[in-house]
Amino acid sequence: MTAGSDKTFYVTTPIYYVNDKPHTGHAYTTIACDVLARFKRLDGYRVKFLTGTDEHGQKVAKAAAEKGVSPQAFTDEVSKTFSDLTEALDVTNDDFIRTTEDRHTKACQALWTRIAENNAPDGKPWIVLDTYSGWYSVRDEAYHTEDELTKGPDGTKLAPNGNPVEWVEEESYFFRLSAAEPLLLEYYDNHTDFIAPKSRRNEVTSFVKGGLRDLSISRTTFDWGVPVPGNDKHVMYVWIDALTNYMTAAGYPDENAEDYKAFWPADLHMIGKDIIRFHCVYWPAFLLAAGLPLPKRIFAHGWWTVEGQKMSKSLGNAIDPNALIEAYGLDQLRYFLLREVPFGNDGDFSKTALIQRANGELANEFGNLSQRVLSMINKNCDAKVPTPGDFTEDDAELLNAAASMLEPVREAIDRQAFHDALETVWIVVRAANGYVDKQAPWVLRKEDPDRMATVLYVLTDVIRLLALVMQPFTPRCL
Ligand code: MSP
Repeated sequence: MTAGSDKTFYVTTPIYYVNDKPHTGHAYTTIACDVLARFKRLDGYRVKFLTGTDEHGQKVAKAAAEKGVSPQAFTDEVSKTFSDLTEALDVTNDDFIRTTEDRHTKACQALWTRIAENNAPDGKPWIVLDTYSGWYSVRDEAYHTEDELTKGPDGTKLAPNGNPVEWVEEESYFFRLSAAEPLLLEYYDNHTDFIAPKSRRNEVTSFVKGGLRDLSISRTTFDWGVPVPGNDKHVMYVWIDALTNYMTAAGYPDENAEDYKAFWPADLHMIGKDIIRFHCVYWPAFLLAAGLPLPKRIFAHGWWTVEGQKMSKSLGNAIDPNALIEAYGLDQLRYFLLREVPFGNDGDFSKTALIQRANGELANEFGNLSQRVLSMINKNCDAKVPTPGDFTEDDAELLNAAASMLEPVREAIDRQAFHDALETVWIVVRAANGYVDKQAPWVLRKEDPDRMATVLYVLTDVIRLLALVMQPFTPRCL
């Protein structure tokens, strides 16, 4: 990190449902953010990388009750599974937020108050008190209309993703999301990079154009949440609470906080495609209503399936990242996840594919290149980088390929196109291997030691640049 750098970069993962068991889907989002954070630090930015746990809501309250413990004791215990995961993945988050912290309650209440004090463009308040009656999926903590529901095999009503729903009828505060529709559409129009990839942007735009319904934003039938300011019969709808975490960690409501000034608005919220509506519609609407700056970009990545099936606890096929790390290595897992599938698309996980990537590319191509060159230097050059003579055209071509790799990698990283970044790196790895074969330094050793020294020098410099650019992806073995 460059001390005192004025370039800042704030990246966030979603906060994970505290009582879920971490699986490779969660690891995917976190690893992607870690690569960005590490890359930006190397590139001279002051970085803030946030992850954490989503601890309120009916789902958590129910899980705690089933265990016979208080929700606080329950979350204190299970939140650790996610902070342990960040360690196992060697991710460099600067903060780990838990939504049950005091700093977060303060931020949520301040944001709520600010929205409640403002009027929508139609001159009426953004938040009103009314009654909600409708379907609610506790597992997704999401409201559904009758026409969105599907039927299970036994005739029960299900959310569009197959999760069960229950009928809810209670007094509730509403956020008048319908009044935000023109503001959102105008915002999307004026900020074409706000939602990525483009296909997601189109999806969100057409959803909003289809008409927005006002959103119930408080609950009265349980109390495991942030109390609504001025009416503590109500707790906030867990998604308002959860989304606010991104600002809490930047010091909100203290808008003079050093972190707030440096890091809000966030540069990037990384999310999976399943939570796009919350991040690309609700969150910007709340911030527009509050008159606060919106995050600069939201990237929705695809989903991993396992042999064609959704990865989930209920199907019992959720892949434990710890088991993969143990069997194949962390760098291998990190590399595979970001290399195998164009970021933004869905991918199907298979161990064979992981092994192929790890052996074929990391070990045989990059590993072997380094091994061949470094062991020759060790044996023949007194373990010191040799002094080169004049460069040939082949030397200059390879040196130039390595030196000009950074710019396209940087550009790919800024588009969150990890696969493109890695492909750019691999073009150089392959060129370097081709160069070794052609120059055959082991033959030069006897025939022309000076030329051997130049060849090994060129290769060392190329490996140095490759190692630097790969550091964010595979921080352990390089
Ligand atoms: N708590 C909410 C997020 C609130 S953010 C203000 C939540 N949590 S989650 O634990 O269910 O999911 C967190 C992230 O993991 C999401 O980005 C989700 O897309 C990602 N994944 C969960 N399963 C996944 C796969 N099978 N594949 C890829 N990513 C997946 O949603």
